[in-house]
Amino acid sequence: MNHIISIRDLERTDIDCLLDKAALIHANCYDENSLKGKILALLFFEPSTRTRMSFDAAMARLGGTSIGVDSVEASSVAKGETLADTIRVVSGYADAIVLRHPKEGAARLASEFSSVPIINAGDGAGQHPSQTLLDLYTIRQSMPLEGIKVGLLGDLRYGRTAHSLAYALSLYHATLYTLSPKGLELPCAITEELTEGGTAIIEHDDVSTIIRDLDVLYVTRIQRERFPDSASYFRVASSYRITPELLSGVKERLIVLHPLPRLDEIDPRVDLLPHARYFEQSRNGIPVRMAMLQKVIS
Ligand code: CP
Repeated sequence: MNHIISIRDLERTDIDCLLDKAALIHANCYDENSLKGKILALLFFEPSTRTRMSFDAAMARLGGTSIGVDSVEASSVAKGETLADTIRVVSGYADAIVLRHPKEGAARLASEFSSVPIINAGDGAGQHPSQTLLDLYTIRQSMPLEGIKVGLLGDLRYGRTAHSLAYALSLYHATLYTLSPKGLELPCAITEELTEGGTAIIEHDDVSTIIRDLDVLYVTRIQRERFPDSASYFRVASSYRITPELLSGVKERLIVLHPLPRLDEIDPRVDLLPHARYFEQSRNGIPVRMAMLQKVIS
């Protein structure tokens, strides 16, 4: 079964192939009826704007149809139905399922009960592989992925996009500079695994000291919804902010990415700089997710 649960399920050649396919789609080289008659189920048990809507739009652009639920309250999960039973039922209605769930490991569990491919659209603080593919695609629009220097800034503990991206970048021998508020560091399990595999991970506590060395600055918001209480969130909220002043003197090719939504971690004045690529990054969700749907469904 063609599940995409973790970015680690994909080899570098699989990723390159998907990104090449996305580039062709982006250049309008695709069959707009390739998924005609196919149905995609979107099961979103956590809020989403980009992931949900771009999978929906991607399916429509390939001639297919989407069905789904947008919250626990709008589904029979609210009546106590288990994820396993929900997946057993929905896999009888659709040709693939895109699942977002607050619990880490939920997509892997779902894949054990599904008769159709599952795409993990974010499982708690776990992984978000489709985001990573569009992140890589966006970087590749500006520079080759091999050997780049990437700053990962923000909530690296709960930020699933950073987890997936760190694994993916290790396949391209990137050097990772991690910058996070105290207590929100990249989990040790990820750091140790990547370091043992030969990836250079350098922890910093001040972005201004390394920003001139970077090719990519990947900013994430603090994941308030994963904190045990408001007080612990407010202890770290607003502790970093990218401004035009901070970006003065950086490499010409530096790009600033963010999976969005952003809160206050990127000054809106940065949007006007050529380094800002986060809205383009979000638009790239369409060709990348079209390529993913073609891979898993057809
Ligand atoms: N980047 C991302 O996953 O955005 P949404 O939560 O809006 O889907």
